Amino acid sequence: MITADQLRQKYLDFFVARGHKIIPSAPLVPENDPSVLYTTAGMHPLVPYLLGQPHPLGKRLVDIQKCMRTDDIDEVGDTFHHTFFEMLGNWSLGDYFKKESITWSYEFLTRELKLDSGRLYISCFAGDEDAPKDEESAAVWQSLGIPADRIFFYGKKDNWWGPAGLTGPCGPDSEMFYDITQTPCGPDCFPGDNCSRFSEIWNNVFMEYNKTGPGKFEKLPFPNVDTGMGVERTLAVINGYADDYLTHLWQPAISLLEKLTGNSYSTRFRDFRIIADHLRAAVFIISDGVQPSNKERGYILRRLIRRVAVKLKSLTPDITTTASRLSLLYVDQMSPVYPELAVNSALTQQTLADEISRFLKTLDKGLREFEKIEKIDGKTAFDLFQTYGFPLEITAELASAKGYNIDTREFTSEFKKHQEMSHTASAGMFKGGLQDQSGTVVKYHTATHLLHQALRDVLGDHVHQKGSNITSARLRFDFSHSARITPEELIRIEEKVNQKISVDLPVTRTEMPKDQALAQGALAFFPEKYPETTSVYQIGDYSLELCGGPHVSSTGQIGRIKIVKEESAGSGIRRIYAQLEK
Ligand code: ALA
Repeated sequence: MITADQLRQKYLDFFVARGHKIIPSAPLVPENDPSVLYTTAGMHPLVPYLLGQPHPLGKRLVDIQKCMRTDDIDEVGDTFHHTFFEMLGNWSLGDYFKKESITWSYEFLTRELKLDSGRLYISCFAGDEDAPKDEESAAVWQSLGIPADRIFFYGKKDNWWGPAGLTGPCGPDSEMFYDITQTPCGPDCFPGDNCSRFSEIWNNVFMEYNKTGPGKFEKLPFPNVDTGMGVERTLAVINGYADDYLTHLWQPAISLLEKLTGNSYSTRFRDFRIIADHLRAAVFIISDGVQPSNKERGYILRRLIRRVAVKLKSLTPDITTTASRLSLLYVDQMSPVYPELAVNSALTQQTLADEISRFLKTLDKGLREFEKIEKIDGKTAFDLFQTYGFPLEITAELASAKGYNIDTREFTSEFKKHQEMSHTASAGMFKGGLQDQSGTVVKYHTATHLLHQALRDVLGDHVHQKGSNITSARLRFDFSHSARITPEELIRIEEKVNQKISVDLPVTRTEMPKDQALAQGALAFFPEKYPETTSVYQIGDYSLELCGGPHVSSTGQIGRIKIVKEESAGSGIRRIYAQLEK
């Protein structure tokens, strides 16, 4: 058996031996990207570098990135979709291109992972009005011994990746599939048809383009390579499983569920997979600073936890204990790789227990109410959400179990019409997005640094960043502090920031060893998460923070800010909203 640890290590070693530097996983909550809810791919935190900014560690990078894809929430329950997953990735920032990238992928798969090259299938970009057919990649694959009849050409839908949002780096890609069952699903069986024969394990994106608007593609300053390989899927393939959940990444959770509920995976596999997937995702999300709520990220978390609760209810009377035991198992299992899970374990336990108990108060009543309903449409679904806290997919699932035929699209759009903040969903924020580097966002970004320091000045040095979210309309900053902030304190904080703006302090970026920056007192959101050599922003002699930028060049450009709201964002965490004054 090859373990996940071995797979991660082999991957890092292989690319380090080829000149790559290891970068840490960025948090699941993108730090300075208002257009996305969660980090969906390893390239996400690297967008500025793919667009041309030099990376402090050079042109060859490798990492294991925590990813969260809410788009796939409805697919979870099958053998290979997950909301949270780990992505192995390697990058060339204007260095090597197709030949090396494909050759190394081939070598890694066949020599390191010992996969049978006779069972590898490849897809390449077929070409269209925006970019030519990718003959070059196909030729490299052929030179490595993959016959032409195992190389398929598809259009943008299948063989073009990115941009993550509406604009940004993107390009044709070449995907690698492994023939798991070696049995065609029918006369027309091909890689990418979503049947269970082929598992897509790796995607090499040749990022040569910057999408600047609908149908507008410009060449990037240099061509990049961005690759992504899912740990869960690859682990299943190399160990000969056709079901990810049979690997040792999931088996401890599955066995514990069997033990605690007295049910077996073989009879309740769909429910088991959903519970195992959603709870693991929840543990990672909470540990990266998100709390359940009815908005945006918090709502995703709420949906995950509540769906776990509903599924558990059908398996055991001990919903809270089972969820807690399972989450502790994940903390133990994954914290050697992701130490933040252990650090935040108590918070995770509390958050899960609170959210489940809140939901259980209304769940039975909601279920009884549901039984009485005769017609289930978007409006009823919304009422169930409003009154009993039923997230949409729970209602949809209950409805289909009752034999109702539901048009989920109509259902979703009706539901969204009513739901608070639904625009974030319809604006494609779930998909992951462009780095909105508009002038306003950059101003908010620098203002956030000033605010961070001002909070420490006024409230004390216990204040640390717990989260940050910027849109072109406001900044939002979460930080550790337990008491409510008084109106007087708010005024002092706001004045402090505005005073630093009015004296027009210069903003400078330097690169230095992380330890040196921390020794100089640089603030950092997740100190352990920054690379050894890191970018540091200094604002006059007022603020020093580890940060990738971008920022305004002097504080005067910000104008003035106004704190518009202060509230709790969970236990021991306060949240401030501020806006630029018009
Ligand atoms: N960014 C590419 C993906 O997520 C590698 O598939």
